[in-house]
Amino acid sequence: MELVKRGFQFLVSIHSKLIHKYYQHIYRKRKLKTFLMGVGCLYLLRRFSQLGMALTPSIRRNLIGRYGEESWAIVTGGSDGIGKEFCIQLAKQKFNIALVGRNQKKMDQVCLELQSFGVQTKFIVADFNDGYTEEFYNKIYQQVEYLDISLLVNNVGVREAGQFEQQRMEDSFMMLRVNALSTLMMTRVLINKLQNRNKKSAVITISSGQAYLPNPFLSVYSGTKAFTNYFTQSLALTSKNIDFLSVTPLSVNTDMMNNKKESYTIETKELVQNVINDLREGKTHSFGCYKHKRIINHLLWRNQKYRNNAKIKMGVDLRNIHQQQNRLEEEQQK
Ligand SMILES: NC(=O)c1ccc[n+]([C@@H]2O[C@H](COP(=O)([O-])OP(=O)(O)OC[C@H]3O[C@@H](n4cnc5c(N)ncnc54)[C@H](OP(=O)(O)O)[C@@H]3O)[C@@H](O)[C@H]2O)c1
Repeated sequence: MELVKRGFQFLVSIHSKLIHKYYQHIYRKRKLKTFLMGVGCLYLLRRFSQLGMALTPSIRRNLIGRYGEESWAIVTGGSDGIGKEFCIQLAKQKFNIALVGRNQKKMDQVCLELQSFGVQTKFIVADFNDGYTEEFYNKIYQQVEYLDISLLVNNVGVREAGQFEQQRMEDSFMMLRVNALSTLMMTRVLINKLQNRNKKSAVITISSGQAYLPNPFLSVYSGTKAFTNYFTQSLALTSKNIDFLSVTPLSVNTDMMNNKKESYTIETKELVQNVINDLREGKTHSFGCYKHKRIINHLLWRNQKYRNNAKIKMGVDLRNIHQQQNRLEEEQQK
């Protein structure tokens, strides 16, 4: 009898344990469900707000309103590629445009194009490859001193690809001067002017995805882009009156890419529109587009061997483009 009683008690305890476990399971499942629903709702909310921002320009930050009506944007290397697209998009937003570049004829043509948007234009002839003294930048400053400059786009850049030890020293110096020193010095000569305005100002620096994915055949270029990216993001940390934005895209369809389109190459228009939206949203860093952000983050997350192989492949592609460009130039010269 005692044995039956114990057996029965044992069965009852197993039964109650099972019921308890079952309810625990239901409870956890409900908790998980509630958690997942919460995440889903937050995601939807974010997407809807982004959609809302995209559809209603009036609730987005009005750029010219923020930086001041009739103010000027100064764009380095504005005669072509990404720089030219910046000039067009900013002129459409009613910024007056000052270009700094080396080719007077090209800048003259861009200015004519920009005037059709009803804005004032100006260009300053300067070859940044000659810019290794303070005096060089002071001369540029003197030509724009009287303008109400609210926006500086540090865009000018050159890229030479190849094995470091085989590269001409002159090319390495050129990349340091045109890519890195120009960003440092243009920001330096304009910073007080930008800081002391009644309205906010902005500095956009076009760095590169190579700043995050240093590349074997672009060692000097990657280094200069890492410099401009860190430089701009450092200034962003404590700046009150100036919105600093560093841009690190991968491949953009310009002369620099020799019109070679990779699957992840984007057009200048898409890049510049995204960058302007990121500036509106108050970001200090932009990948230029979601596709490039995904690729860079994916590679940074993968293990070192995979990442290095991807970087080498990217480097080989860019070196090939560079060699093709050189061959074309040689043929044209013959
Ligand atoms: N294209 C890409 O895939 C890519 C990706 C990431 C970052 N970026 C960066 O984006 C920026 C713009 O590149 P991009 O693709 O638009 O290049 P781009 O089409 O070659 O245009 C470069 C611009 O800079 C000017 N420039 C070049 N050297 C100069 C010098 N020594 N002095 C004055 N002006 C000079 C060019 O003037 P001229 O018309 O006289 O040549 C041109 O207006 C660069 O900083 C580049 O590193 C480009």
